[in-house]
Amino acid sequence: GKVAVLMGGSAAEREISLNSGNAVFQALRESGIDTVAVDVTGSPIDALAGLKVDRVFNIMHGRGGEDGVLQGVLQVMGIPYTGSGVMASALSMDKLRTKLCWRGMGLNTPKWFVLQNQQDIDACMAELGFPVIVKPAQEGSSIGMSKANTREELVEALRLAQQYRCAVYAEQWVQGREYTVGVLADEALPAIRLETPNAFYDFEAKYRASTTQYHCPCGLSPEREQQLRELALTACRGLDVRGWARVDVFIDDNDVSQLIEVNTVPGMTDHSLVPMAAKAAGVDFRQLAWRILETSLA
Ligand code: DAL
Ligand code: MG
Repeated sequence: GKVAVLMGGSAAEREISLNSGNAVFQALRESGIDTVAVDVTGSPIDALAGLKVDRVFNIMHGRGGEDGVLQGVLQVMGIPYTGSGVMASALSMDKLRTKLCWRGMGLNTPKWFVLQNQQDIDACMAELGFPVIVKPAQEGSSIGMSKANTREELVEALRLAQQYRCAVYAEQWVQGREYTVGVLADEALPAIRLETPNAFYDFEAKYRASTTQYHCPCGLSPEREQQLRELALTACRGLDVRGWARVDVFIDDNDVSQLIEVNTVPGMTDHSLVPMAAKAAGVDFRQLAWRILETSLA
């Protein structure tokens, strides 16, 4: 059957999605799959009209593609698609709701404070202290995020995050090490540790900097890494995440894992982490794309 690779979209991560999508499209082509690349600039219904596709490889990041909306459309159209369903996609796109779920399951996630307006600044400072990291709840690739060490920086961070038309929160900064765990077909891939000289692993560090270091093997003992991988799977199960995903997590200086968020349509660019982790597990990019496509049949 014919596969449509849906990419682009109108979210802030459009360019990243086009990079991910083109890489996936090439890989599926090379595997001999009848594939069409679809840049979704408006309605996905219009984009798919007349194409007669049997399956969708969804590589649209962010709102409209990763948040359950597209998943609902495909469900109604009766087209199988890669990755999570409507609910898990919607939950995972919203980092605040994700944290509430994890809290409810007794899993650790850093303390947070919802910032509705500048009047909340003092209460936030009293609750969390500094540093904090301020985030729009429904963005990706660190877009709209900044780290704040002072009141002035917090005011500015809130102003910036508020431009993204969704809830904004401050999260207590975790002193420790940053990891990410890819999940493929409900199995955890080797963990990667990220190290950046930037204030945090921001957009620049993710896609542009040559100073970002990726450690895979991640440097944890085999037992500790196994625990981390199990935690990633538990974190995904709690949200009903399916197929593939990537879980971002810190291990703090007291050796406690602190879950940050789940990406249900993780990046597939040449800088991206799931391809890196898959490679460490002996799965090259072409095989990875194939394995993800297979999840659409689950
Ligand atoms: N949101 C970006 C694409 C990622 O998680 O890789
Ligand atoms: Mg993300």
